[in-house]
Amino acid sequence: MATLQTLLKQAKRVFPDEPVAEFFVRGLTDKTRLEMYTDKSPVSQEVFSQAQNLLSAYKPNLPVQYLLRKAYFLSYELYVDERVMIPRFETEDLVMLTVKRLADCGLRSAVKSILDIGAGSGAIAIALADIFPKAKIIATDISSDALEVARININKYNLQDRLELYQADLFSGLEHVEFDLIISNPPYIPNNEIENLRPTVKDFEPRLALDGGKQGFEIIERIIKETKGWMNPVGLLAMEIDPRQAEPIKAQAHWVDFEKDNQGLVRYAFIKGG
Ligand SMILES: C[S@@+](CC[C@H](N)C(=O)[O-])C[C@H]1O[C@@H](n2cnc3c(N)ncnc32)[C@H](O)[C@@H]1O
Repeated sequence: MATLQTLLKQAKRVFPDEPVAEFFVRGLTDKTRLEMYTDKSPVSQEVFSQAQNLLSAYKPNLPVQYLLRKAYFLSYELYVDERVMIPRFETEDLVMLTVKRLADCGLRSAVKSILDIGAGSGAIAIALADIFPKAKIIATDISSDALEVARININKYNLQDRLELYQADLFSGLEHVEFDLIISNPPYIPNNEIENLRPTVKDFEPRLALDGGKQGFEIIERIIKETKGWMNPVGLLAMEIDPRQAEPIKAQAHWVDFEKDNQGLVRYAFIKGG
């Protein structure tokens, strides 16, 4: 009878990177890492067959999250496929740093309206819906494909009443609201660098989620300019950025503060309204 260790062994043949193989078994069985190495009980025939089907459907460099159609973001398990970017750990930190910043300024309970620009899988908006239970949240994406995936996740977490999705190029066509928080993990890779990204990224993740134009700054620059008029004067714009964009952001924003990621790189920009 096959056990978790059998599955792990099979997964390691396909994914030589051990954490990726472990992710595969975890995604399939919901078992912890400890159980994966110690639980000797047999896995069900259903799980075993599912593993065989998925492993035989693997193509080189396909991210394990797309194979499983599953990704984790903070405490959420999200459906993902090649229509959306796989949510990243860095973006979990964007959410946490934003909430901490609002709490430190005594504004956390004042947040009643939130806009997430470039929703992708809906990861940021869904996490914020939990953190700000009284807020109305709007999430936009230019990609109708991405919005279909976000819709699956919003339905999964029963957030249809509080979280609205719109297809929009940034703010275009939105009903006018002054948001207390505007948050975005926009595409920020310079387009001539996309070819140098890892094959798991450049060959599978949507180009629209990566391509930030010539310098990688086009969408960010537009967000900063267009946010004026859409943000409460005491509101906050929070964005994930490429470290090289800190200087051009300083030139655009009247007040900006940056935070670093866990590799010590400037990764987050916080711009005040008003
Ligand atoms: C880096 S992904 C972020 C996805 C998700 N928020 C996350 O953090 O995992 C950027 C998203 O922005 C969307 N996007 C690109 N250009 C846009 C635009 N002009 N207006 C709105 N969304 C845009 C892409 O389709 C993509 O889903």
